[in-house]
Amino acid sequence: MKFFVDTANLEQIKEAQALGVLDGVTTNPSLMAKEGITGQDNIINHYKAICELVDGDVSAEVISTDFDGMVKEGEALAALNPQIVVKLPMIKDGIKACKYFSSKGIKTNVTLVFSAGQALLAAKAGATYVSPFIGRLDDISTDGLNLIAEIRTIYNNYGFETEILAASVRHTMHVIDCAKIGADVMTGPLSAIEGLLKHPLTDIGLAKFLADFNKGN
Ligand code: E4P
Repeated sequence: MKFFVDTANLEQIKEAQALGVLDGVTTNPSLMAKEGITGQDNIINHYKAICELVDGDVSAEVISTDFDGMVKEGEALAALNPQIVVKLPMIKDGIKACKYFSSKGIKTNVTLVFSAGQALLAAKAGATYVSPFIGRLDDISTDGLNLIAEIRTIYNNYGFETEILAASVRHTMHVIDCAKIGADVMTGPLSAIEGLLKHPLTDIGLAKFLADFNKGN
């Protein structure tokens, strides 16, 4: 399972990279705005900075909602760095643009996916990644993990190579449950990754080992 961190915060990206288990970064316009990154030039420079910090894929989202606009924006984003994955919204023109980019060998991430049917379309259009938003489904009392399981079954049935990128991951249990279902990737806050480290018996055990070592010294 790949671990992506879902942030535009350079310090958090550095911290995640330093842990040695990071496979990529996802961003979106809201995450950029949260860091105060506005204006086309600043956003482009920020993507470049993120690519310098990590080795893996970096999703960069288009703002256009029409095919021509998405193609123009996506081509400019993809030209920034081979690590860039063009992130496209799950709308009709987004699917057309996905097909366009996949036929040109440009990586894509179809975002804002909330149903198995949408995920099926994204795979048919050759998406590199599909992003079902599990946390936002949970927020409206709908089982986000069930969607991951449905997509896994469908993709396995037909051998689709599109990777299931479980997005809107909110906590550590989401990560574990997605891993059990077989999501290819998860993206979430650094806290969801670091939460995997924690167990009280580890802390108690380590304290005891150190105390026993110190008895003899
Ligand atoms: C995915 O790529 C999105 O950026 C993200 O996971 C959305 O998460 P949120 O629902 O916590 O905003």
